[in-house]
Amino acid sequence: MTSSSRPSSSGPATVDPFVPLRRDGLSPVPDLAVLRAHEPVRKVEFPFGIGAWIVSDYEHAKAVLGDAAAFSNDFGNLTGAVHGAVSAEQNPGGLGMADPPQHTRLRKLLTPEFTARRLKRLAPHIGEIVDDLLGEMESAGSPADLVRHFAMPLPSLVICELLGVPYPEREAFRKLSGARFDIFGGAGTGLSAIGESLQYMRGLVEAQRRDPGDGLLGRLIRTHGDELDDDELAGLADGVLIGGHETTASMLALGAVALLENPGAATIVRDGDAAAVHDAVEELLRYLSVVQVAFPRFARSDVDIDGQHIEAGDLVLCSLSGANHDAALGDSVDGLNVTRAPTPHLAFGYGIHRCVGSELARMELRIAFPALLRRFPRLRLDAAPADISFHEYSVVFGVDDLPVAW
Ligand code: HEM
Repeated sequence: MTSSSRPSSSGPATVDPFVPLRRDGLSPVPDLAVLRAHEPVRKVEFPFGIGAWIVSDYEHAKAVLGDAAAFSNDFGNLTGAVHGAVSAEQNPGGLGMADPPQHTRLRKLLTPEFTARRLKRLAPHIGEIVDDLLGEMESAGSPADLVRHFAMPLPSLVICELLGVPYPEREAFRKLSGARFDIFGGAGTGLSAIGESLQYMRGLVEAQRRDPGDGLLGRLIRTHGDELDDDELAGLADGVLIGGHETTASMLALGAVALLENPGAATIVRDGDAAAVHDAVEELLRYLSVVQVAFPRFARSDVDIDGQHIEAGDLVLCSLSGANHDAALGDSVDGLNVTRAPTPHLAFGYGIHRCVGSELARMELRIAFPALLRRFPRLRLDAAPADISFHEYSVVFGVDDLPVAW
């Protein structure tokens, strides 16, 4: 909604700064729609006096994310580190919290690993991993926890395949990414998992230096081994794990909730052709917007957006769930309609930091959902909606566990 077509009354007097992270079941809370309608670019105050701008509509979120010249992603803006000189430990977001030219250089190395041709190589492996996990879940018997049996291990094992983690190490990797997941999921396994994960990645890099395999790390070492030190390679691998694990796991679990709550949508995904599944996955990505807020942006200089004056250094948070539920994307976008023609949603962000793994994630989801529903045609949620353990206040919206029965 542009400023000219907005309701004339001014916005709410006070705004809960956490409103982009709150949900009502699977949907964003109604307060987010109120904010978007009245003040899509709004100054808020977090605890400890930290001010920030929340951008909650499609037009302005896309404009901010697409303007890397006006907005910096450098995490050093928050930690006070020297611009651009941030180590992997100080910068938990990897690529997502780096600016050009550092970002451009690292991103250029990763992009070729995610082309359609490279990903095609992974498709049959993803199908096998999905079938194996569903087989294990079936053997464990009904009821089962879909997060533990399916949503969590699937993206972890796909990342193993992508990076080139040797088979005997996959169980250890699965545990490690599970611990890493818990930091963000709130179960609180401890920050040591970050250090452990980076240490593991360094070991993997050293082994691949000695004997470069067929995966992403081996290929990077063969083609760019002289330009990259071990810490940079470990940081890239860890960034892929952070970027690709919890996000995809949440999409799988919450997507299952959405489908099981909408039997008509589940039938379309179970029995539909590739085009129907394609559109359904795009709609689930938009509707669920599991990454609720994009990486923080910092204004490089004073800038006016939607009549608001943002000062140099101000923190700007783009609400992706707000943008993706904006009427600018179509009719009835508050609800799920898996037959909707795909929208140009922002579930993967926009601009130079747009998700590098988006095609891999889509491929996993397009394989996983139909396979799950075909294997268990009578699958149902084994908990009342009010008893589902949705995360509260986490940047990546998700669930701790998901009881299902068949
Ligand atoms: C459904 C699953 C996924 C969702 C919803 C998702 C969403 C996002 C979003 C919103 C961003 C940030 C955009 C921004 O702030 O402008 C991002 C960045 C990123 N994602 Fe994903 N992602 C998913 C899966 C993956 C996978 C599978 C990988 C890799 C295996 C991955 C790797 C990354 C990386 C490395 C970045 C940083 C890119 C950059 O800053 O240049 N993501 N993702």
